[in-house]
Amino acid sequence: MTAPPNSHSFRSPDHYAVIGNPVAHSKSPEIHAAFAQQTGQAISYVRLLAPLDGFAQTVDALRAECREVAHEEAIGAHGGASRSARCGGANITVPFKLDAFRYATEFTPRALRAGAVNTLKFDGAVALGDITDGVGLITDIEKNLGFALSGARILLLGAGGAARGVLGNLLDADPSLLAVTNRTIDKAESIASQFNNANQGIKICVMALPDLPKQSFDLIINATSASLSDNLPPVPMSCFAGSSTRPALAYDMMYGRETPFLKLAAAAGARAADGLGMLVEQAAESFYLWRGIRPNTAPVMAFMRAGTDDPAARKPPNQPSPKADLKPNRKP
Ligand code: ATR
Repeated sequence: MTAPPNSHSFRSPDHYAVIGNPVAHSKSPEIHAAFAQQTGQAISYVRLLAPLDGFAQTVDALRAECREVAHEEAIGAHGGASRSARCGGANITVPFKLDAFRYATEFTPRALRAGAVNTLKFDGAVALGDITDGVGLITDIEKNLGFALSGARILLLGAGGAARGVLGNLLDADPSLLAVTNRTIDKAESIASQFNNANQGIKICVMALPDLPKQSFDLIINATSASLSDNLPPVPMSCFAGSSTRPALAYDMMYGRETPFLKLAAAAGARAADGLGMLVEQAAESFYLWRGIRPNTAPVMAFMRAGTDDPAARKPPNQPSPKADLKPNRKP
């Protein structure tokens, strides 16, 4: 029997991919496979390595391949039900989030605000660009770690794509202070003025390194890529002092090992959390955009932590271990 061209009921799984360079480390295929199994959705999800100068061509080729198969299915060349025909979308990781923003033909408001895209959803000629990193971070901090952001004093380290993807959501979380610092301070100034011009409420404050020892924060987020190379971004230990009512939370967007940043935070008495929760939560938000179903993230997070060989990663996030040997990763 030949499947009707527009019917999904006879089709094999819809196709998705995570596109990056490098991409071999990405845990997204495992996470989305777990979501699909849990929700009964038929999808396939693969890693796709794009050349550094070939993001758009890689996405075009992926979509064209799916269209070709869809056409073959429509004319019955494959008996109608054995191959994947629809390319539903893609996750975008380092270093292509700005390329994905340029590639998208339509945007969610949060992607427009961030100027970056980590999720594409395809519908015919339309490529809808979204960014789910900010939601992933906030959900992990507030829901999974139980750390209230309203009224908090927050320090964000970094002014690259990762910082850009979460700043809007941090502003919306109603902190009493949102400070950004960066090794290259001009980039922090530039990202702050971009968000401040668009935001009616609290303004982002740029702090240079010499200003930091005079400050303490409730939440310090490492959005630099320093942990990838086992480096510590410049941040004084005094920043982790917290307040009289609660210890500071140090959050590294990297996952898979205890980074120098998390070691310093733990030594200063702060709670320390890696970015695995953010990774799973941002994936759940992408899955929801694509499939209209919100997966339950808790069992997937537990499964991902149990699946690692890293003893530190198996511990609750506020108890980092001094012994950790897994290569760190970055979402998604
Ligand atoms: P991503 O998309 O992961 O954010 P990016 O856009 O290249 O990647 O940004 C990397 C961020 O990490 C930048 O803020 C960078 O600081 P500079 O703007 O000064 O380059 C920061 N970074 C990378 N390595 C660092 C290190 N060893 N110490 C401090 N900051 C570092």
